[in-house]
Amino acid sequence: MNKQMKLPQAQAAVIQTASADEPASIDALADATDHPPETVTGAAFELEANGLVAVTERVEQTLSVTAEGETYVTDELPEVRLYRAALEAGADTEGVSMGQVIGASGLEGPEVDIALSNYARKGYGIIDSGEITADPDADPDSDGEATALAALVEDSAADLETDILESLERRGLLERSERTVRTVTLTEDGVTAVMGGIETAETVGQLTPELLTSGEWRDVEFAEYNVDADAERREGGRVHILRQTAERVKDTLVGMGFQEMDGPHADADFWINDCLFMPQDHPARTHWDRFALENPTHIDDLPADLVERVERAHREGVGEDGEGYRSPWSEEFARAIALRGHTTSLSARYLSGHEIGELEPPQRYFSVEKVYRNDTLDPTHLLEFFQIEGWVMAEDLSVRDLMGTFEEFYAQFGITDIEFKPHYNPYTEPSFELFGTHPTTGELVEIGNSGIFRPEMLEPLGVDCDVMAWGLALERLLMLMYGFEDIRDIHGTLCDLQLLRETEVTY
Ligand code: PHE
Repeated sequence: MNKQMKLPQAQAAVIQTASADEPASIDALADATDHPPETVTGAAFELEANGLVAVTERVEQTLSVTAEGETYVTDELPEVRLYRAALEAGADTEGVSMGQVIGASGLEGPEVDIALSNYARKGYGIIDSGEITADPDADPDSDGEATALAALVEDSAADLETDILESLERRGLLERSERTVRTVTLTEDGVTAVMGGIETAETVGQLTPELLTSGEWRDVEFAEYNVDADAERREGGRVHILRQTAERVKDTLVGMGFQEMDGPHADADFWINDCLFMPQDHPARTHWDRFALENPTHIDDLPADLVERVERAHREGVGEDGEGYRSPWSEEFARAIALRGHTTSLSARYLSGHEIGELEPPQRYFSVEKVYRNDTLDPTHLLEFFQIEGWVMAEDLSVRDLMGTFEEFYAQFGITDIEFKPHYNPYTEPSFELFGTHPTTGELVEIGNSGIFRPEMLEPLGVDCDVMAWGLALERLLMLMYGFEDIRDIHGTLCDLQLLRETEVTY
């Protein structure tokens, strides 16, 4: 007894097009039914859930030559061009000056470096102290990488040696991508259904204003949602985890009673250093450690009375037995503008009363802002990072208050094993560096610097109670939270997209 089966339009089309012995790809079904592949995929899963078709999946790899790779297919690889120029210049018999050969090769800009870094590796010859030689036995016409590139441009499925493919990939000349290919086959039940005849049910996938206003919604049949279906993943934009964590840090500090500071990224050395009792001949104040501004080079409007008090502290110290540095102090030097190396410049501005007027204790302030340092790039250093600056002004603060504040703060991020190490800052006494344990490597990671501001800093600023303060690195906090080992995983062109896409910042 055959009963006609009623199916929504896309499913009806797919089941009638699929076959029991010939697996059909989603793309082929999409072509044949004139439905978009997403619709066909959805319909196939629906049919599969009802036992009418079987869907199989396999991951297919595709290789594609990059734009740079394609230029080398037309113009030859840079190292091959260098070799030809070297031969031309007689480098097969004796060393020839590099400058001469590069000039003759016509290689330009980054191509020169590319040629140099591949030349010796591929046995074309030797480059040593400014001279190049060419191996007469090398054969550029059978260059493995060049041949493979040319073959791939012709046929992306060309069968090639793995190590050559890997080296092309490393050179950025080849890209590998993966996609899931699904095929659909009718099951026995599916065959029976097709033989019994398929009727197309008019179902509505989406409720529209028209359906509502016309009242038609009362009569139509709605397509059911299949919440188990494997949907295509959409990688939309999202807020970077560093930014998300910065917001969370702000919320945490606001919750702890802090107010936010704001101020210039490029500032006078006066606010960045002099107000912090940093001697003008301190090594960190030399030109190679700071990013100076070229235009404008100096700030004009420093508060004159404050400048005078800061200068006096530097020259004579503060208090009865104060000494000061007895080193030169120049206002011109203090007015020079640089990118701030720490946001303690903001703390100096606020504490001095310059930003929002004189402050009466108790007060708590913070900022989560960018700072700039001329560091050597490595897994834990970039030229810029976000500093979590903060200070508490109150009568009678002690190291316990400082440590307790950090423990309370970091505990909100699940970090409960903070360690402290005595440290030195010209502007704090005592001073402590903070460390946390990396969750995967177990190494101690420096996460911040802190202390209690010295009278030499506070007195000129006009503060006559205690102030404890700190600068913590947001990126290092993130490392402890998420376990990545290299800052470059979250910043810049080497970043780990999967980490950025999938990490959730939870409150
Ligand atoms: N300015 C310090 C740094 O950048 C941090 C700090 C701020 C230390 C305030 C003590 C007090 O490392």
